[in-house]
Amino acid sequence: MQRAWSRREFVKRAGTAAGALVLGGAFAEFLAACGTGGGTTGGGKLEIFSWWTAGGEADGLAEMFKIYKQRYPNVQIVNAAVAGGAGSNAKAVLATRMQGGKPPDSFQVHAGQELISTWVKAGKMDPITSIWNSEGWDSVIPKDLKTIVSSGSDVWSVPVNVHRGNALWLSSKAASLVTPGTGNTLDNFLSGLGKAKAAGMQAPLALGSKGGNWQVTMLLENNIVATGGADFYRGLFNGKSSWNHANVKSALTYIVQMLNFVNADHPTIDWDQACGRLQAGTSVATIMGDWAKGYFTANNWKPDSDFTGIPSPGTTGTYMIVCDTFGLPKGAPDLDNAKNWIKVAGSKDGQAAFNPKKGSIPARTDVPKSIFDSIAQKFIDEFKTAQLTPSIAHGSAAPEAFASGLNDEMGQFVQKKNVAGTLANIAKLADQFLK
Ligand code: GAL
Repeated sequence: MQRAWSRREFVKRAGTAAGALVLGGAFAEFLAACGTGGGTTGGGKLEIFSWWTAGGEADGLAEMFKIYKQRYPNVQIVNAAVAGGAGSNAKAVLATRMQGGKPPDSFQVHAGQELISTWVKAGKMDPITSIWNSEGWDSVIPKDLKTIVSSGSDVWSVPVNVHRGNALWLSSKAASLVTPGTGNTLDNFLSGLGKAKAAGMQAPLALGSKGGNWQVTMLLENNIVATGGADFYRGLFNGKSSWNHANVKSALTYIVQMLNFVNADHPTIDWDQACGRLQAGTSVATIMGDWAKGYFTANNWKPDSDFTGIPSPGTTGTYMIVCDTFGLPKGAPDLDNAKNWIKVAGSKDGQAAFNPKKGSIPARTDVPKSIFDSIAQKFIDEFKTAQLTPSIAHGSAAPEAFASGLNDEMGQFVQKKNVAGTLANIAKLADQFLK
């Protein structure tokens, strides 16, 4: 019962709930008038837009391209990826292109609010319902995931993976820093970091906040789950929990404490460079989604040997959902090729090729667990019973206006460390964009 409820609640928050309509109606009509593409399955091009350029994520994408090439050897694939974690640059480029009537054939978009509130509500996507049905995805993609890529009676994109946003990565040098299981608390983590610092390591906790501070928003969302639990966290998006609450205050206070152990140059590096600090040995821990695992393995680290991954401190038993999907923009210039891309993204072989390199677990339930590394295997098991929480930083829980406002607020917060002021400002943002 408990598990069924939690999934329902997760879906309710991340899925079809109304959010702020970011793009205006006239804009949507303009885009709708931009025409449809031609049939070019036998050749032509396929332009895929994403922000997957870092180690691991770029490799995963390349694997999916290989599968596409095997099926459609005459199509020329154009990789239109724009660097910057979490789409910090890509999202603006995509918006400009869509506005200018130059959509790619398909683009990476997070399930939930980012897809539904931003693009679908503005009338800028074509539904993929008929592909979903003809490919038989109902029998292999969990209903919960289908729900968060659906609105009205249509499905609008296909999930390729599930990333875990609440993950702590530890190098083998950090062996005694954190105890998995019940010992994995924020307080134990901080005392472990304290020991590492006392032993001479300046910045045991690596952070990269370049590109808009979404990485700090991840620390906040994870810490809120740690201090308040999954129910409290989910309640923040349906009015059942108040942002102006001791749990949020405590989550912020824990960030201030973490910052004592963080590299001073964090505003100038992104998440992948922060992972690089573990490999360089100047840090031993980083809190990041499991695309970090993709980075480590792409850079020749062996899971559960050179490094390991566990739930971020205090969040054991929960799974912060970051779900990448691909949708079909209205006016996709190479429509048939785009539809075939959607099919590859949702296919068993596509997801089997993509996810082991990407660091995520597959959205499909029929991809064999045995092809994954030991950390992913643990995550696959944990996902089945965990309390699911949708990520704010990665587009699922809240409309874009709230997420970007929160990122800005967190940027101020890491500089000024003003817990009370930040709490008040976040509560104001919530009043403005979550009601
Ligand atoms: C997330 C995305 C992941 C990963 C990450 C870092 O928003 O869902 O797939 O790419 O950004 O770039």
